[in-house]
Amino acid sequence: MAKLKITETILRDAHQSLIATRMTTKEMEPILTTLDDVGYHALEMWGGATFDASLRFLNEDPWERLRTIKKYVKKTKLQMLLRGQNLVGYRNYADDVVDSFIRLSIKNGIDIIRIFDALNDTRNLKAGIDSCKKYGGHAQGAICYTISPVHTNKLFVNLAREIEDMGADSICIKDMAGLLDPYNTFALIKDIKAAVSVPVELHTHATSGLGSTSYLKAVEAGVDIIDTALSPFGEGTSQPSTEPMVATFKNTPYDTELNLDALNKAAAYFKPLREKALESGLMDPKVLGVDINALIYQVPGGMLSNLVQQLKLQNAIDHFDAVLEEIPKVREDFGFPPLVTPSSQIVGSQAVLNVLLGKRYKIVPREAKALVRGMYGKPTIPISDEILNIIIGNEKPISVRPADLLEPELEKAKAELGEYMESEEDLLTYVLFPKPAIDYFKYRKLHKK
Ligand code: CO
Repeated sequence: MAKLKITETILRDAHQSLIATRMTTKEMEPILTTLDDVGYHALEMWGGATFDASLRFLNEDPWERLRTIKKYVKKTKLQMLLRGQNLVGYRNYADDVVDSFIRLSIKNGIDIIRIFDALNDTRNLKAGIDSCKKYGGHAQGAICYTISPVHTNKLFVNLAREIEDMGADSICIKDMAGLLDPYNTFALIKDIKAAVSVPVELHTHATSGLGSTSYLKAVEAGVDIIDTALSPFGEGTSQPSTEPMVATFKNTPYDTELNLDALNKAAAYFKPLREKALESGLMDPKVLGVDINALIYQVPGGMLSNLVQQLKLQNAIDHFDAVLEEIPKVREDFGFPPLVTPSSQIVGSQAVLNVLLGKRYKIVPREAKALVRGMYGKPTIPISDEILNIIIGNEKPISVRPADLLEPELEKAKAELGEYMESEEDLLTYVLFPKPAIDYFKYRKLHKK
């Protein structure tokens, strides 16, 4: 039995989950050396929504944040989250963009890249894993956890094996909706640990109130690393809190051996930031409670609140139960995609349309057509000919990896960007978020010292 390793998420997922990713670099800076002293396995601090939010809402260069954090954090590995071929954006990018983005991420200070695909289509992980390894990074392949009749432990074990064979240095089970419960976690981690030889990490959310007990059972089943958030930004839709997890394993064979003084100092630092966010309304007390919907309906809590909103807008909240019954049917028709952005919205909206229009698939939004055509990746199980015919008619589904249909993008973007480009990093920022990038570059020019 080895000591348990902890990845701290306060600089990324925790504030993405609780305050819409609004923590600024300035707010992080004073506590970085203390965080470095805690003895964490890694600090997750970049990727996901941080890139977009920095540019769009904080007038910050995300690359500058990375360099600043690297300047202070000298002992602890820096970790980022990458949406496979979507990088930190919302569409598939060509392989030249993927390679360049990963090269620059590692050059500017990233050590570990957690790479996932919303559909668990491993073809969408390949370019990311290959580039990460090429530039000397630690490539972690992540599996999106979901519940459906076809998502058995065996399916997840096969995915883990496949990702290990692709060269991943570790495997992460990513339970983004907090659907895992303790005993299923125990069985799943046991099975995956028995199947792969690389380290296994578990990422969950406290949304349904089961996060910390799931971690306890995961650790007993042999998981190597868990993701937690310092208590001022822990629990609710964020990760289980760091300090109680550390206390849970104190003086056991899994003892994390973290520096408790540094840990307390760091937690104390973030407390006023939490108070400030609660006062301003940036942190909504609603996200801090226990949301039992995940346990009852086995779909992400965020997806349910979206549905309620959609139905209320159309004065159709009395159809809520019918829509809830329709969701698993649409999901089955679409080949059982994991329910995570964007598939959760696509399945949810289609279920609403099917119910409100009184006829299934009378209207099919563009995104649902793209999903069924394979434009996001391979479905978990093949979609029937009948459904293909109803949704896309004579159009042919694609069988290749979606990014195989894309031309290289960087050279063209360079020409468009012109005078604004001050570095290679600027070019990537522009390719990922063209409009917010230009707005930021203009702001930067005006505020140059
Ligand atoms: Co998460």
